[in-house]
Amino acid sequence: MRRKLAAGNWKMNGTPQSLEMIEVLAQSSPDADCDILVCPPATLLVSAAARAKGTPVMIGAQTCHTAETGAHTGDVSASMLRDAGASHVIVGHSERRAAYGETDALVRAQAEAAAQVGLAAIICLGETLDERDNGQALPVIRRQLAASLPQAATGTTTVIAYEPIWAIGTGKVPQMEEIAEVHTQLRTDLVEKLGPEGNAIRLLYGGSVKPGNAADIFALSDVDGALVGGASLTAADFSPIIAALRAS
Ligand code: PGA
Repeated sequence: MRRKLAAGNWKMNGTPQSLEMIEVLAQSSPDADCDILVCPPATLLVSAAARAKGTPVMIGAQTCHTAETGAHTGDVSASMLRDAGASHVIVGHSERRAAYGETDALVRAQAEAAAQVGLAAIICLGETLDERDNGQALPVIRRQLAASLPQAATGTTTVIAYEPIWAIGTGKVPQMEEIAEVHTQLRTDLVEKLGPEGNAIRLLYGGSVKPGNAADIFALSDVDGALVGGASLTAADFSPIIAALRAS
């Protein structure tokens, strides 16, 4: 059985005050039967981890460098994130692929660097609107998976997030059948590549997940949770999404 996972990606948002939300999330789910992850900006990781201590809420980062230490001004390594209290790190988010030219090979190296220090990597994949309109969504996503998944990926080290780029921050969501089709294909590819371990890797959907559409998305088979951007910034929005996931 895969545990469900509700992951919040704050992106470049949030202040020290925003962290109060962690206690609200923890209180509203004292016997959480699904994992709750909050990924604030790097500057807030240490205080976020302190607040989450002793609660079911876990803390994640939004990217990492592939090297352990060195002359990489402005970057943060996976071991530094772990030392700051993170248990997870998002890699290959489409915003970073677009803004910094991050490639599948780099994303795989980041995921490997994370695994090496005991951080779970949330590897993001997803097609553009053009690719979807041209019938290329599945081939694009399968190529990304093949090239960014570490050889030794397991259910502990790896989570996959399917995030159609055109659905991120737009309020647009694919048809439920389209999400189901992608997740079924990803599961098939994971099992083909990793054997039974491919069944242990959680598949998240991301892109305009809101309290109003969460239940429909979580009802799909092979959707094990969500990577939530905008709606993870307040407990008022994130709590009902977590509740929908637990009820699914
Ligand atoms: P969104 O972002 O929920 O605001 O669409 C999702 C993401 O980018 O992870």
